[in-house]
Amino acid sequence: MRSDEQVSNEARERHLQTLGEISAALEKKDLYTQAHGHRVALYSMRLARRLGFSAEEIRNVGIGGLFHDVGKLAMSDHILATRETQLSNELKQEVQCHPLIGAALLKNIAFLGPVVDFVLFHHEREDGKGYPFGLNSAEIPPGAKIVSIADCFDAVTTDRPYHKGQPAAAAYAVLREGCHGNFNAIFVEVFIQEIEEGGMIQDIDPDPLLADELVRSIAGCSHQVF
Ligand SMILES: [Fe+2]
Repeated sequence: MRSDEQVSNEARERHLQTLGEISAALEKKDLYTQAHGHRVALYSMRLARRLGFSAEEIRNVGIGGLFHDVGKLAMSDHILATRETQLSNELKQEVQCHPLIGAALLKNIAFLGPVVDFVLFHHEREDGKGYPFGLNSAEIPPGAKIVSIADCFDAVTTDRPYHKGQPAAAAYAVLREGCHGNFNAIFVEVFIQEIEEGGMIQDIDPDPLLADELVRSIAGCSHQVF
């Protein structure tokens, strides 16, 4: 008869395999989204570390960054490739479902715990005008606020179908402007300090080892990675 430990190890391995498959599916669907996820993971962990988060919290935030847009797996290729900045209401609704879909994909993976909320709430705003729920500031977990800042910074500074990547200073301006409703102002200033001292992430290819090590470390399969 198999011990409880064997059963839980097997369950964990199955979950890790599921995450690997999700990650591979995302790569196949949209290389930009996958590379963006890796950069957002690294930026999010740097901000969490600078804010004094524990090693476990830093890893959670990293996984949240890595998978924040995983719900885009369900979006039509047309939206992912569009150059339109003004989407129709129908397409906008489709885009706004991606946090819900992402959280649904991850929610049964027990060891991910708070990570699911970081994915679910990464488009919520301090002023309550975000989506999908319009949460107020106090209801949004700090990890989701961090991912949202890293997400914005990377979106401004890298090439997308509808714009060329801008320098860091342009992204600082967008983030500071966003402090009037979207972002946590303290987190934004700490993030800018981090980028000023540590620099931007340039031209990385998605690193399968980062994803694997992060996920395995949080699942208790390996010792401290970060
Ligand atoms: Fe998103």
